Amino acid sequence: MVEIIDGKQVAASVIDAVKTATAVLEKNTGVKTGLAVVIVGDDPASHTYVGAKGRMAKECGFTSIQHTLPAETTQGELAKLVQSLNEDASIHGILVQLPLPKHLNAEAIIQSIRPDKDVDGLHVVNAGKLATGDFATGLISCTPAGAMLLVRRIHGKDLSGLNAVVIGRSNLFGKPMAQLLLAANATVTTAHSRTKDLATVARGADILVAAVGRPEMVKADWVKPGATVIDVGINRIAAPERGEGRSRLVGDVAFAEASEVAAAITPVPGGVGPMTIAMLMANTAIAAHRAAGQTPPKF
Ligand code: GUN
Repeated sequence: MVEIIDGKQVAASVIDAVKTATAVLEKNTGVKTGLAVVIVGDDPASHTYVGAKGRMAKECGFTSIQHTLPAETTQGELAKLVQSLNEDASIHGILVQLPLPKHLNAEAIIQSIRPDKDVDGLHVVNAGKLATGDFATGLISCTPAGAMLLVRRIHGKDLSGLNAVVIGRSNLFGKPMAQLLLAANATVTTAHSRTKDLATVARGADILVAAVGRPEMVKADWVKPGATVIDVGINRIAAPERGEGRSRLVGDVAFAEASEVAAAITPVPGGVGPMTIAMLMANTAIAAHRAAGQTPPKF
């Protein structure tokens, strides 16, 4: 029987640990953890995500600040806001929700966030620390960090001898995921849209991580029997069987058929998704502890 990896449950245990650490930090040092989330424009999906982040931050006992800027905001105005958050000692984590409107240079904004407040782990300093194995001072991108916790639930901390294949090579997910798996001693292949015979490469994986952004692209015959499958995709597709105009969420993996072959698999929704927000809270707690000179909690 396949094991369905319960991301909601793992995320809840991370949130519990964050709440405890946050309360202890405040009691011992008087420091209240602060997270600032910046959103530009009115993309409804982004507003939904940002709202959820703010609510979770409050639940964790953080000061949660949201800056909502109009779509016409200039590069200079946004840069000024980031600068003021960089200098604000009550803010330990800064997240600029992506994507930004097209006229803005997102990369310049991300790189202007102080690395020790970059709870998205997107600053080159944090990417470099991950690449060189500096887990003691860097911050790791939330979705790969969360996916890695799910891998650890199945395989433990040491992935020696296991082949891992990550499909996807983005800075936000694929590259940091590959680095995390490598740091845990897996033998890692990063595959992508230009990879020859993706199915065969995927079938070599003991741990298969799919972040391709295409609904149900990974089929049963891409999965090695007994593999662990981590599905990072969130795709909304039409679901006429639920009634006219209805839709449903599916991952990048054809879940039902892949479940017949895999030993463990993450569902969509309820797998990697809940972990992203949990790890954002974890990163903010870590940043606040470091700023206060306290040993941060481990996740
Ligand atoms: N938009 C979608 N995912 C993310 C994320 O992880 N961080 C940020 N900043 N924006 C996103």
